[in-house]
Amino acid sequence: MVKVAPSILSADLSNFEREIKIVDESGAEYIHIDIMDGHYVPNITFGPNIIKTLKKITKKILDVHLMIEPVEPLLKEFIVAGADIISFHPEADSNHEKIIDTIANSDCSVGIAIHPNISVKNIEHFLKKVDHVIVMTVIPGFGGQSFLMEQAKKIAELSELRKKNNYSFNIEVDGGINKDTAKICTNNGADILVAGSYIFSEEEEKYKQLINSLR
Ligand code: DX5
Ligand code: ZN
Repeated sequence: MVKVAPSILSADLSNFEREIKIVDESGAEYIHIDIMDGHYVPNITFGPNIIKTLKKITKKILDVHLMIEPVEPLLKEFIVAGADIISFHPEADSNHEKIIDTIANSDCSVGIAIHPNISVKNIEHFLKKVDHVIVMTVIPGFGGQSFLMEQAKKIAELSELRKKNNYSFNIEVDGGINKDTAKICTNNGADILVAGSYIFSEEEEKYKQLINSLR
């Protein structure tokens, strides 16, 4: 069954601890944290401290999506803060090997994220080295955007490459996920769905039901 990673980008920060507690009890497997630097993307969100805070209030797997450029100088801070999965955009830094080794040699899983403008061919050489591949189905930077339908074929492409080469990475889809687009993703081979506004724009009583509706 597909796993769900609620993205705290759309959570109510004035009620942060409560939002996380509800997600904690909702049956979601991960918590997705979008780190934006105002440079790789035109928005600024959180730094490593949010990971430290989350570590205190939840035992969920912390799935950190770095939208920062460069990646390498800040990497260790996110590892030390307690990230469980760290994904980066390869076009944001050229020190790929060092980044992958640094993440893999810590207790974290390694992920790469594919910007809508980047093809699977372009990142194919990473596939044997990573645990997660994030297919971005919106232009990174903001929550609440519409799912870019033409990106869905990358999910199938990755799923085929994984089968053909016996790779073991998870396929995670990020952006514009709701009940309908979730179906398209799982039909194409997605393992993990990130969802922000679909969950957090509703009343908290509905979070659990909304998360389950994605499976
Ligand atoms: C976008 C982020 C997403 C975002 C998804 O740059 O990477 O994780 O939070 O938000 P929704 O689900 O609202 O598209
Ligand atoms: Zn994300």
